[in-house]
Amino acid sequence: MADPWQDAMDHAVAVARRAGTMVRDAVQNDMKVMLKSSSVDLVTQTDQKVENLIIQSVTEKFPTHRFIGEESVAAGEACLLTDSPTWIIDPVDGTTNFVHGYAFVAVSIGFAVNKQLEFGVVYSCMEDKMYTGRKGRGAFCNGEALQVSDQKEITQSMVATEFGSNRDPEVVDKIFSSMRKVLCLPVHGMRGAGSAALNMCHVAAGSVEVYYETGIHCWDVAAAAVIVAEAGGVLMDVEGGPMDLMSRRVVAANCQVIGERIVKEIDAFSPERDDAA
Ligand code: IPD
Repeated sequence: MADPWQDAMDHAVAVARRAGTMVRDAVQNDMKVMLKSSSVDLVTQTDQKVENLIIQSVTEKFPTHRFIGEESVAAGEACLLTDSPTWIIDPVDGTTNFVHGYAFVAVSIGFAVNKQLEFGVVYSCMEDKMYTGRKGRGAFCNGEALQVSDQKEITQSMVATEFGSNRDPEVVDKIFSSMRKVLCLPVHGMRGAGSAALNMCHVAAGSVEVYYETGIHCWDVAAAAVIVAEAGGVLMDVEGGPMDLMSRRVVAANCQVIGERIVKEIDAFSPERDDAA
């Protein structure tokens, strides 16, 4: 059957590539770094320029579609997922990496209809890796099919997580106590790419068994959630149960057993939801 969203997905891939070129060019130049929620929550003109590029180009082709974009929300727009076709955009996922010239930087474009994610495109700009996932049709990296790892033992697993950008000591304590418990299971290793979207793509690609984080936003994970699911992985909340895109909490695992095992070690907390009025 013809795919009703094929056109939109092709457009997402094309515009992600253009956006990636913009990001790569900007790394060569001086960049103006600004602050958002705190002194460690960074944003650059490139984040804003890339988001504008994506929104403009999508609007020209699909004038009725809606957007949730990291920088638009930072500028005061509502973060509201309706039944309308909606593009969920993180123009630069891994902004801190981008600012410091650390290689994991991605353009992330998710697409939802009737509040269900239909496809996701994550372009790792510096590595020139185009990750794509289309509901029911698989996940790919540069055209090669992706498959999660078949590991079922947490003690044989690679775990990814992040410190995030909240420096409230109580939150930091929870992050460290969770990490300590996970590390001492023991697991083979713990990593953090500095980009939620790429951590999840690493789960999809099989090099990481499980990624968890609290504090992410819907635009960090929407696209990669489709890629993980289509590579055979599972998504859940940090306390178990289904992932809620607006809750700012995610576990992306190669399988249910590993996901549920990691959930047992996480000291859960609940940041303000993305869709809080
Ligand atoms: C951030 C990155 C980071 C994660 C943060 C995100 P941004 O996104 O994905 O890895 O730890 O929670 O906010 O701000 O670079 O788009």
